[in-house]
Amino acid sequence: MDHQRQQWRSKMGFLLAASGSAIGLGNIVVFSANAYKFGAGAFYLPYLLALIVVGLPVMWLEFGLGQTQQRAFPQALKNIGGKWGEIAGWWALLNALIITMFYVAILGWVLGMWWKALVGSLWTASVPLKGFAMTSLPNPVGSFFSLISSWNNILFVGIVWALNLILVFKGARSIEKGVKLMMPLMWIFMLILVLIGISQPNGIHGIYLLFTPNFAALGSADVWNGAFSQIFFTLSLGFGVMTAYASYLPKESDHNTNALIVSTMNCSFEMISGLAIFTLLFAFALTPKASTLSMMFFVVPKGIAKLSGMQQTMGVMFFTLLLVAGLSSSISLIEAFAAAIIDKFQWSRSKVILGVALIGILGSFACALPVIVDKKLATTGTMGLTFVDFLDHYASKYGLLLVGIVECLIIGWVMPAHKLREALNENSRIKIGAWFDVLIRYIIPIILLIPVCLTLWGAIQGGLYGSKYPLGSFRWMPWFSAALWAGVTFGGAFILTSISGASREEA
Ligand code: ALA
Repeated sequence: MDHQRQQWRSKMGFLLAASGSAIGLGNIVVFSANAYKFGAGAFYLPYLLALIVVGLPVMWLEFGLGQTQQRAFPQALKNIGGKWGEIAGWWALLNALIITMFYVAILGWVLGMWWKALVGSLWTASVPLKGFAMTSLPNPVGSFFSLISSWNNILFVGIVWALNLILVFKGARSIEKGVKLMMPLMWIFMLILVLIGISQPNGIHGIYLLFTPNFAALGSADVWNGAFSQIFFTLSLGFGVMTAYASYLPKESDHNTNALIVSTMNCSFEMISGLAIFTLLFAFALTPKASTLSMMFFVVPKGIAKLSGMQQTMGVMFFTLLLVAGLSSSISLIEAFAAAIIDKFQWSRSKVILGVALIGILGSFACALPVIVDKKLATTGTMGLTFVDFLDHYASKYGLLLVGIVECLIIGWVMPAHKLREALNENSRIKIGAWFDVLIRYIIPIILLIPVCLTLWGAIQGGLYGSKYPLGSFRWMPWFSAALWAGVTFGGAFILTSISGASREEA
């Protein structure tokens, strides 16, 4: 018996859920860290080009796939590309599942820091650290290390999984209710942060840096690579999310306009986050030169700590913002995977959600464990977060971009592209031209292949990612994480495809 496919109650619910998926940690901290790393003003041009040439067309593609097939990602690709299409679809979703595991672990740490900001321990002078090479560290660095090295870490990660479960349990219905509350909250908190940042003396210099073009940096391949990876991650492309979400809307929906709205909402939120972070940090003479995690847990909290009288309110607001933005993204990743399992096996939703959560929880705990087990890892130059870092490297630098290439090739050549475009145009006020077919068939796959090849070339020349870290008892971790990522994604995709599903799956 084919299950009754769930539907969004309103178009607004869908738009909020899809933009909630897009707006996440990627917008608030990854963007700012990347913008600084790649020369601030220099980053905008490649970023905007990546949005127009790759981001928007791939979002049209993923929405169109859900609209025309009314199925989750693997089944939608199977309808077009047969068995190999399905393998590609599961491979994408398993890659996304790995991202979900460390994404939720990071959200657990956000919740832990939120708690420390609330009770005030984040603002004390320094934190004594038992068992670490350094016996005390200034806040918030010390607070973060004491968090990730204690078993409370696991508790916070568990709580975030519980919140995710509550939000996805009833599928589109509970997600829609959640995002109607979360999205306005996110915008309000973000606007308050910008206003406070801009009103600080010297804050304006952050805006100058962010928007001063630096054309010399455009010659660097890294800047372009950074921009294309950022666009994929920030728009939640390559995760199978947009296809699952679009499949919960009727076939007659106007997805050309929907994709424009979602990408505009996402990218404007990203610009505003950039303003908030850069102004706040410049006001306190802190350079935003930081990795994503240190930006989130050290640099911004250090700036907030200097806002006398407002630390607690601002700290709680900042971490609430991260948590809410992150949750509206993580629920979409969980839903995309659950939707595919339900579509294939027709099992009950509650059973599938609990199964996905169990696997996800184990993965997130594994990401949160290393520093609890070996505190020396915190001094390897990676803040002890090597496992997260390694999985992120394989899943984002290779996985997401390869999914982008494969989906463009399947839709572009097998469907082929003009059929999808015609289906999209049929119900839309905005009509996409034949240039879309050229982008999907040739240009986007080539553009995405370049960063993948450059990353691979770096690995061939410099050794496996992370193999140079002094990892002590964890020196097997670089090989282990590479093998784990490849085994889970490729092996899992073949296994899931080979199991026969319920008889009505192609319906
Ligand atoms: N799009 C989500 C983010 O930016 C995954 O965090």
